[in-house]
Amino acid sequence: MDTMCIKPQKQFLAIFSLLFSIFIFNTSQVSAADGEKIFKQNCAVCHSLGKNKITGPGLEGVITRVPNEAWLAKWIKNNAAVISSGDAYAKKILAENGGAQMTVFSDFSDEDLNAVIAYIKAPPVAMAATATTSNGPQTTETPEEGVNPLALLIGVIAFLIIIVAVLRGVRHSLKNLQNEKLGLEEEPEVGPWTEFKKWMSTHKRTTAVIVLFILGGLVSSGWYALKDIGVYADPAQNREYNPEQPIAFNHKLHAGTNAINCQYCHSGVERSKTAGIPSVNVCMNCHKGISKGPTTGTTEIAKIYDAAGWDPDKGEYNKPQKPIKWIKVHNLQDFVFFSHQQHVKVGKQDCATCHGDLKEMTTARQVQPLTMSWCIDCHRKTEVPGMQDNPYYESLHKKLAEKYKGQPITVDKMGGIECGKCHY
Ligand code: HEC
Ligand code: HEC
Ligand code: HEC
Ligand code: HEC
Ligand code: HEC
Ligand code: HEC
Repeated sequence: MDTMCIKPQKQFLAIFSLLFSIFIFNTSQVSAADGEKIFKQNCAVCHSLGKNKITGPGLEGVITRVPNEAWLAKWIKNNAAVISSGDAYAKKILAENGGAQMTVFSDFSDEDLNAVIAYIKAPPVAMAATATTSNGPQTTETPEEGVNPLALLIGVIAFLIIIVAVLRGVRHSLKNLQNEKLGLEEEPEVGPWTEFKKWMSTHKRTTAVIVLFILGGLVSSGWYALKDIGVYADPAQNREYNPEQPIAFNHKLHAGTNAINCQYCHSGVERSKTAGIPSVNVCMNCHKGISKGPTTGTTEIAKIYDAAGWDPDKGEYNKPQKPIKWIKVHNLQDFVFFSHQQHVKVGKQDCATCHGDLKEMTTARQVQPLTMSWCIDCHRKTEVPGMQDNPYYESLHKKLAEKYKGQPITVDKMGGIECGKCHY
């Protein structure tokens, strides 16, 4: 009997290591494809890999056109800097493309940069071919490749279960074969559950440990799930909240490239609790004249006209206005008091501290958790700026300066962590 068992065990090991190596192989495939992913996410809206021009030139053979590879890296990372340095080749392509602006990718790491350069130098043959023969950016979109490791793991487990079931069957028939030879009675087939129960009753301690382990896992994941209710973003988990908006409004283009002041649109920040979202009339101040954008053409701006009731052909407002239903990104609970004026005007806090750098974001997204501990942590470590110069704080400052001799006066010291300050 024992000798019979060895062989299937060996096979089993071989199958397992084969599956394992497939798993490893597949994960390395995923990282090798990063250049492709970066390209599709950042470049494919403006560049094809073939000869076709979209907003920017088709990138087929680009490595033979540009001055050298170092130039390519500099250009992709910050084309604006290359242009302003008076680079001759940059002038030439700028003229060839009617002065259209390429996005700046200053947040690319060297790794991203190398991956995307390697990719545009040698894209997969099939993709380059389809991109040359067709004329839309869509054709460069092939379905996501790479295997989801979780799916693979589940597959492996399912496979193992099948193998175990088969081996059990084989063992059972071999045993009966042996019994037949020895003239013993045939053993009835025992269900896996019965056998499992028998195993549990003979291995009580192991069973207890496993049960505790599973229970612990459930309780802790339940606890974390509860803590996450209503928390939409958490930088520690690399999680951000980024809902899709009715119009593809682009902060990077407006506040970054075109350097429009945040307050032009969010006029409430210095004088009220809320920053406010601009009405369609604010958009129309500029968009009466700008009907076409660099990445979305006329489609998105047409939605502004529709909401404003503007007829661009006749150049007049002749239709009813409709509100634009922006989706709120940041959402504090109703029982919390937060004032922009207090933080921006009095507290001199930069928008980016709480909202991230909108000048670099295409769509506004929540990057900070907005939890109570987030507010309080900042109040504990941030000094109240210009307290000594603010007449409003004169007497308070004197009192605090005496009380906390020489220590920095942080927001918590002036009562910034009292419950009533933030809760009605
Ligand atoms: C918003 C559109 C846009 C995006 C996004 C964009 N580019 Fe460009 N790109 C351009 C334009 C337009 C030019 C031509 C020069 C000019 O007018 O600024 C250009 C030029 C280039 C060139 C030089 C082409 C030549 O023929 O010499 C390279 C290389 C390049 N881009 C790579 C990239 C890469 C890589 C990405 C993504 C990381 C990217 N671009 C994203 C618009 C874009
Ligand atoms: C041309 C107008 C305009 C400018 C300039 C502008 N924004 Fe916005 N902003 C909007 C619009 C429209 C929305 C709503 C759509 C969205 O969420 O993308 C918005 C949304 C936001 C949101 C998310 C609001 C929410 O729903 O919680 C934040 C945060 C924000 N802007 C910050 C900034 C900062 C910081 C700047 C300056 C660096 C800035 N904005 C410049 C128009 C503008
Ligand atoms: C102060 C002027 C100004 C205001 C106000 C303004 N925009 Fe723009 N918008 C621009 C400029 C400049 C462009 C880029 C045009 C170009 O590069 O060809 C643009 C482009 C766009 C585009 C096209 C984007 C693309 O990538 O194709 C959209 C959509 C847009 N704006 C939406 C809005 C909305 C919605 C509002 C109101 C909340 C708004 N804009 C307010 C100046 C403005
Ligand atoms: C101390 C952190 C902090 C700073 C600094 C800050 N914000 Fe906010 N912002 C918030 C919070 C918290 C909310 C959510 C408010 C709510 O839901 O009631 C918010 C909401 C917003 C919204 C959504 C609309 C609204 O009024 O609720 C916009 C737009 C916005 N902020 C823009 C800005 C701009 C522009 C600046 C810089 C001038 C800025 N914020 C500075 C924390 C901050
Ligand atoms: C980036 C740091 C920072 C964050 C994050 C922050 N605050 Fe503040 N907060 C300040 C500063 C600085 C002041 C002091 C302003 C002043 O001088 O009155 C302040 C003051 C306040 C005050 C007035 C306190 C008093 O004693 O008058 C309230 C209320 C407040 N914050 C609420 C909040 C809430 C609610 C949140 C979270 C949603 C939050 N803050 C997040 C920096 C921050
Ligand atoms: C600096 C501002 C600030 C102060 C001070 C503050 N809170 Fe909060 N509190 C918040 C914010 C913001 C939330 C919302 C958190 C969320 O939505 O996850 C909150 C949520 C809560 C909740 C709801 C449970 C939860 O975590 O969502 C309770 C209860 C609470 N606070 C009690 C208190 C008590 C008691 C104090 C005084 C010891 C206090 N808070 C002081 C900002 C503050």
